[in-house]
Amino acid sequence: MFAENIKEGVGEATTSCVSEITRAQFDKWQSLLLDRLGLALSFDQCSRLQMSLSIRMREISCDDIDTYYEQISELPAGLPEWLTLVERLVIGETRFYRDAHAMALAYVCLKQLVQENPNKSLAIWSVGCSSGEESYTLAFLCDHLFGEFGKPPRFGVTGVDVSKTAIDMARAGFYDARRVADLPKKWRRNYFETGALGDFKVKSFITQRVCFARQNIVDIGRSPVRQQHLIFCQNVLIYFSKEVRHAILDSLAKRLAPGGCLVIGAGEALEWSHPSVERIKDKRALAYVRTAA
Ligand SMILES: C[S@@+](CC[C@H](N)C(=O)[O-])C[C@H]1O[C@@H](n2cnc3c(N)ncnc32)[C@H](O)[C@@H]1O
Repeated sequence: MFAENIKEGVGEATTSCVSEITRAQFDKWQSLLLDRLGLALSFDQCSRLQMSLSIRMREISCDDIDTYYEQISELPAGLPEWLTLVERLVIGETRFYRDAHAMALAYVCLKQLVQENPNKSLAIWSVGCSSGEESYTLAFLCDHLFGEFGKPPRFGVTGVDVSKTAIDMARAGFYDARRVADLPKKWRRNYFETGALGDFKVKSFITQRVCFARQNIVDIGRSPVRQQHLIFCQNVLIYFSKEVRHAILDSLAKRLAPGGCLVIGAGEALEWSHPSVERIKDKRALAYVRTAA
């Protein structure tokens, strides 16, 4: 039935298709994705898994989910087929200035660091940056901050994401008018050039300070990155089991500079703690500051 749905082209988001994946099939995929990618899907994400597999199977003209499972499970993670499937599994929904409370908290933290050391150059990491809106928003904030101090900006933002498509879009720095509509007019004017088609391109004095790389957050423990003043990781940990989330957060905490701040999505890891960070008292954002050296 699943194969027929795919042949008939109704295998994407239809609810009838969702019911076709059996619990046993879901369990097999769940354990494979956890093992190879660290992705933890709960059964209520079955429709997402179904949709992503349907799309990928249609692309490669495979009409049997068990055949696809057998084929991909023989391939080590990191091979092109796995990378493409990851693209279909992750959802890159994002916005400029998505979480105003978290951004405000990050701003306060960065401001304090610059106040303590006016010559400080800020290192910012945007982990799971999708198409770049979050990373550029952080760059706008930093530019604004140094402007407030009347100082030339000294900062660099690195955005990382597992999706190559997302990273390519982020690097391009082009957004249609709809995507920048919620930004304050002043920011649109200061930080974007408008193109002939009414699209918006991030100005080069900002893009020069922002770089993007493809990286799987599960491998973050091997990253040489250290001494970050702000790590922003929102709406990414939702993809992982509690155990994997905590391991990722431990690695992120170790990559903060003293006084640096780790911001995650509200409710994304309430029970996590680490000896070198302290939770910032804030009801609307979930963030930690590095206390120990
Ligand atoms: C919902 S978007 C969030 C984007 C941005 N952080 C925000 O809050 O607006 C989630 C992003 O996490 C990325 N992602 C998912 N799994 C990942 C992984 N294992 N490593 C790195 N990025 C991942 C997805 O590709 C997607 O772009």
